[in-house]
Amino acid sequence: MWGIIATWRMAFDGVTVASQLLKEGVTVGDAIESAVRLVEDNPVYKSVGYGGLPNIQGAVQLDAAYMDGDTYQIGGVAGISDVKNPISVAKQLSKERFNSFLVGEGARDYAVLNGFDIQNMLTDRAKAEWEKRLKEVQKNQLNPYDGHDTVSMVGLDVSGSMATGTSSSGLFLKQPGRVGDSPLSGSGFYVDSEIGGAAATGLGEDLMKGCLSYEIVRLMKAGYTPQEACNQAVYDFDARLTKRNEKAGAFSLIAMDCNGAWGVATNVEFTFVVATENQRPTMYVAIPAEDNQTNIEPITEEWLEQQRKNPTVD
Ligand code: GLY
Repeated sequence: MWGIIATWRMAFDGVTVASQLLKEGVTVGDAIESAVRLVEDNPVYKSVGYGGLPNIQGAVQLDAAYMDGDTYQIGGVAGISDVKNPISVAKQLSKERFNSFLVGEGARDYAVLNGFDIQNMLTDRAKAEWEKRLKEVQKNQLNPYDGHDTVSMVGLDVSGSMATGTSSSGLFLKQPGRVGDSPLSGSGFYVDSEIGGAAATGLGEDLMKGCLSYEIVRLMKAGYTPQEACNQAVYDFDARLTKRNEKAGAFSLIAMDCNGAWGVATNVEFTFVVATENQRPTMYVAIPAEDNQTNIEPITEEWLEQQRKNPTVD
């Protein structure tokens, strides 16, 4: 069995490519890297890679991570600038015994030294949006923070290996040096090839409080299905966070187990993509439902048309 699940419908093309690779017997690590790179390279997506929205000073600082579910090797970069594909740097770092999680200049220097493509990641469109939003925030005293739609993926290949990858430009107008959940093991992602994996998108500051990716893998180890594990981890933590802080940020989790079964839970409307040996790449929309359940529906032409008229999610 092979399979892949990814956050947001922006991952559709990447999942389509990855599913073909997995079908041909390519390793899950390479399939996930290819899929995340496609999202990073597309300037249309404003929260990942090239075209990602900048921090308060107008600089694009990117976070990414990669984890190998066979070995537990993890590589991560945080606040990296001018590097075309942070996921590829993270994947290479996962092979390092030491210094496998690098930030800022150190991460950039590593990428330069190791021959990764360097480019200005700020597009004209992202710069214009930054200028506009900054003015609005200053004039209207608005909360500057929105847009934190990480691309996260979990996959399984025909040999039974699993891996996960994440990539994000983090919060729009974040403070310089701010790091979200995406490069943090246990919060943004976790995978064990003998159990399964989980990964996140949403407000990093709140995802970190619950270590939700690890919690979902722990629940799958205890015998929960991926869907039961996602529901249990997400809605329980959302309730506890709300009780203690009167609010919880938006967050959504995806999971796949070592048999290719998958699940999702979310506290907001959320789109995601799945492909398995038994299922061609399919876009879904998930919304929280009563009794700590998640409603999951395939995305219809009608839904897409509605989004085109009134876009609210990626
Ligand atoms: N989940 C991405 C972030 O908060 O930076």
